[in-house]
Amino acid sequence: MSLPVPTLTTSRLVLRPVADGDADALFAMHSNARVLRYWDAPPWTDRARAAAFVARSRAMAEEGTGVRLVLEQAADGAFLGWVMLGRWNPDFRSAALGYCLDEPAWGVGHATEAARSLLGWAFATLDLNRVQAECDTRNLGSARVLEKLGFRREGTLREDCVVDGVVSDSWVYGLLLREWSAP
Ligand SMILES: CC(C)(COP(=O)(O)OP(=O)(O)OC[C@H]1O[C@@H](n2cnc3c(N)ncnc32)[C@H](O)[C@@H]1OP(=O)(O)O)[C@@H](O)C(=O)NCCC(=O)NCCS
Repeated sequence: MSLPVPTLTTSRLVLRPVADGDADALFAMHSNARVLRYWDAPPWTDRARAAAFVARSRAMAEEGTGVRLVLEQAADGAFLGWVMLGRWNPDFRSAALGYCLDEPAWGVGHATEAARSLLGWAFATLDLNRVQAECDTRNLGSARVLEKLGFRREGTLREDCVVDGVVSDSWVYGLLLREWSAP
């Protein structure tokens, strides 16, 4: 079953489907080693990765496994990053949250605002019971975003990732429908 990809608005942001025209901004963000420093894969070096990412975002919705939305600044349409709900399993009523924001957008609450909006849509539309998220244990900013959204830390995935020879642990977080406070 395919998934509808919504366009959502918050006080400062527009969250809309990923488009071909986002490829340059996606490449710039995903090739920045500072942005990707706690990611589960190295920064991109090949521009073709951006077009594949746009295609994958469309395919996810067509296959019905998730939705990925670009964050734009409402005031001027500037690209700020993306947020996604993936691994949607309608039988388990579960999905996974992910996000990546470009460096100039950090530190002013955009990730929390965008994720809260996507979660609100998802809980209202997809009959979800549980949303899961993982983050590198060094990524204290991302852990804080999840905690502000109401996620609970449920455990540690030891030596979860090896990226360019660096081994890292991940925290796993969960948010249940009965714990979610709609905005
Ligand atoms: C992590 C990331 C999503 C945060 O986005 P953001 O828009 O800056 O997040 P917000 O402003 O909504 O919230 C960040 C919170 O973390 C806190 N924070 C940031 N860095 C921190 C650090 N090193 N230690 C402790 N807290 C930190 C901020 O103070 C803020 O909390 P507060 O509102 O209580 O003050 C963003 O930096 C990013 O996309 N990074 C690159 C990709 C990435 O790591 N994605 C997540 C993978 S799990």
